[in-house]
Amino acid sequence: MVIALCGYMGSGKSTLGKMLAKKLAFDFVDLDDYIEKKENMSIPQIFADYGEAYFRQCEYSALASFLSADSTVLSLGGGVPIADENKKLLKGMFVVYIDSSFEDCYKRIKTTDRPIVKQKNKSELEEHYNDRVAHYKKVANLTVYGNNLKKMTEQIVRFVKEKI
Ligand code: S3P
Repeated sequence: MVIALCGYMGSGKSTLGKMLAKKLAFDFVDLDDYIEKKENMSIPQIFADYGEAYFRQCEYSALASFLSADSTVLSLGGGVPIADENKKLLKGMFVVYIDSSFEDCYKRIKTTDRPIVKQKNKSELEEHYNDRVAHYKKVANLTVYGNNLKKMTEQIVRFVKEKI
């Protein structure tokens, strides 16, 4: 089973993913880290040197390579659930949407070097967040809300344990 965590940048996917993997004794993979290792470049560098479209191709190939993985928690980049071809791949995984508020996400991302954050001001980012929600809801098998990552992790563990 692959548990894929989706949600906006700064929603807590990686922190929650590590906690979840520990509780379930699963492997943890952050898809952005995986791409950075594969390309031997940071995400901001990939965007700057090759553009967003190239980064999206990397995301698709990286996601596809986990389709047959087992006992893995995969933290997805915030843009993964947007492309139709990625939506198709996500059908083969158990997808959890980490539904953190825009303000909580914004607090965590505003001073980071994420290319999309650098390209937009706060109100543009809020619009971007709102546009993405429908995509996250579409791919999710389970949605967890709030800002208490520990409680959210426990909720996912309870749900998943009934499925394994
Ligand atoms: C992106 C989110 C980032 C990273 C890239 C693009 C996006 O991942 O993949 O900067 O389009 O939302 P996180 O959601 O882990 O920050």
